[in-house]
Amino acid sequence: MAYISEKRELTPEIKQLVLSAPEIAQKVKPGQFVIVRCGEKGERIPLTVVEQDEEKGTLSIILQEVGNSTKKLGSLEKGEEITDIAGPLGNPSEVMNFGTVVCIGGGVGTAMVYPVAKALKGAGNRLVSIIGAKNRQLLILEEQMRKISDRLLVTTDDGSYGTHGFVTDALEKLIADGLTIDRVVAVGPVAMMSAVCRITEKQDIQTIVSLNPIMVDGTGMCGACRVTVAGETKFACIDGPDFDGHQVNFEELLRRQRMYLQEEKIALEKENSDK
Ligand code: FAD
Ligand code: FES
Ligand code: MG
Repeated sequence: MAYISEKRELTPEIKQLVLSAPEIAQKVKPGQFVIVRCGEKGERIPLTVVEQDEEKGTLSIILQEVGNSTKKLGSLEKGEEITDIAGPLGNPSEVMNFGTVVCIGGGVGTAMVYPVAKALKGAGNRLVSIIGAKNRQLLILEEQMRKISDRLLVTTDDGSYGTHGFVTDALEKLIADGLTIDRVVAVGPVAMMSAVCRITEKQDIQTIVSLNPIMVDGTGMCGACRVTVAGETKFACIDGPDFDGHQVNFEELLRRQRMYLQEEKIALEKENSDK
């Protein structure tokens, strides 16, 4: 059980919750996630831990309401409880001084890249960050990312804020301008991470992506999160979620992410009709 001690609406569809979970708050490292469940029959929802406060025993998650379970979670209010929370899960991200690191967050992926970017800055890297969203209203954590970055580039698909275009356009510009990049960390939609990797592969820039396949148990037992990396089967929950992006089979990941679209649509429609 985890008590919601704070709730913030970052955009109408993206909510930040601060949860009391002292044991997880003591242990969690950047790049790790938790699995939460709302209700005894609730689905299990993997969510990255964005920040933690060891003293208060709290951790913060940011969720985008994309379907039935995230909408239920997003509708909970301060003072309410989440039925259960498990974690920390997954391996922490590799944090050391690589030199110049470009951290890229697309959409709610900015919430997932933020703790890693912060840790990389803390480890002495020169941090250039690129964050992007469809439009200004969907952009999150701009101030937080600006605070930790030596340089922050913002893009929106519709040009309503920052530079008009995709995060990949900003990355290509950095490369064209001659920035020497030692590592790229990219988190966001599969298409975005795949596009980033196509650019960096040509430049031979090591690129880490955080994969978000469908997960169930989060402990390596169910096989739901199977991904193919360097031709080998890996379980994102225990072998990842971070992987060498140049080795990931993104087409398979996209296919597997869409496996239950019909069922997810039915679950949402049923929930709406029950209201
Ligand atoms: P549904 O309508 O059931 O599904 C919508 C889409 O979400 C599906 O098509 C599928 O691609 C994906 N999805 C569905 N169920 C799962 C599942 N059990 N596990 C993973 N993906 C699923 N989202 C955030 O908003 N913030 C985060 O910090 C965040 N961190 C994540 C960290 C990891 C390691 C993983 C694997 C996923 C993360 N996600 C995060 C994605 C989030 O878990 C899904 O959006 C959520 O589970 C969707 O549930 P739903 O019932 O609302 O949507
Ligand atoms: Fe079950 Fe990874 S979520 S094996
Ligand atoms: Mg669901």
